[in-house]
Amino acid sequence: MENPLNDLTGAEWLYWTNSIYPTNFPPDPTHPLRKKHGAIKPPELMAEIISFFTKEGELVLDPFAGVGSTLLGADLVRRKAIGIELNAEWVRIYQEIKATFSVGPEGLVRGKTGRAIESLLLNGDCLEELKKFPAEQVAAIVTDPPYGCSHRVTFTRETNFAMYNPGEAKDFGNAASFATYLEKMAAFGREAYRVLMPRRYLVILIGDRYHNGEYYPLSTKVAEVMQQAGFKWKGMRIWWNQATQRPLRPYAIKRCYVPNITHQNILIFRKG
Ligand SMILES: C[S@@+](CC[C@H](N)C(=O)[O-])C[C@H]1O[C@@H](n2cnc3c(N)ncnc32)[C@H](O)[C@@H]1O
Repeated sequence: MENPLNDLTGAEWLYWTNSIYPTNFPPDPTHPLRKKHGAIKPPELMAEIISFFTKEGELVLDPFAGVGSTLLGADLVRRKAIGIELNAEWVRIYQEIKATFSVGPEGLVRGKTGRAIESLLLNGDCLEELKKFPAEQVAAIVTDPPYGCSHRVTFTRETNFAMYNPGEAKDFGNAASFATYLEKMAAFGREAYRVLMPRRYLVILIGDRYHNGEYYPLSTKVAEVMQQAGFKWKGMRIWWNQATQRPLRPYAIKRCYVPNITHQNILIFRKG
């Protein structure tokens, strides 16, 4: 029977349907550059996700690309990828990575001994840039948007704060409220639905939040918005990277229960 979605064996496919998804990826050689962005994902994780939802050579889109971890993941597994990122500094860092690293047999390597990194990163607002994309050309959308309103990523000491523009209204993370954020995500969902090929997948990595003393199930709210855009919600994986786990913080010990949210949700949607 022909497998229309990916190049995996049946056993690999089965393994990937486990709803609990622990990983243990150590920092890769591009990490010192990428970590200036405080919310990066391991390229190896992105490569695994992309390997499930595409075949070799197909086109992947990341509309909230940051410093390009999804794009690097796509190159690792020989897919094409286009990213969109609002902040010019994150685009500059990706271009530096592209100029300095290549893909060797064991992964990303410093120097040009391996395959060239080919994925493209556009600088702009995804809501504007996506309108220029033709309909039904993208095989998978795999992305990690800002996690709700007033979402400030934690910057490392090396970050130059001047490069971050907290006043940029187009940044989804600067939405004044969760309601405004969800409206922006709805506009994104409609464009995502249009550019995706029929029966293919949108994958969103997103954490839940704790807000005003209550658990705020952001991933569920975002899923409902994607359903309204036409997507079918097919499932969710709970991702936890042991190698970069967040330390437990002493929230309200011996007073009341406050969760340490150490996992992220991987939401999986299908068009049609
Ligand atoms: C969680 S980060 C993505 C990080 C990325 N996965 C990585 O590993 O580098 C979300 C990104 O979305 C970007 N962003 C926010 N609003 C945007 C918009 N309207 N268009 C494009 N990018 C946007 C932010 O600047 C931020 O870099």
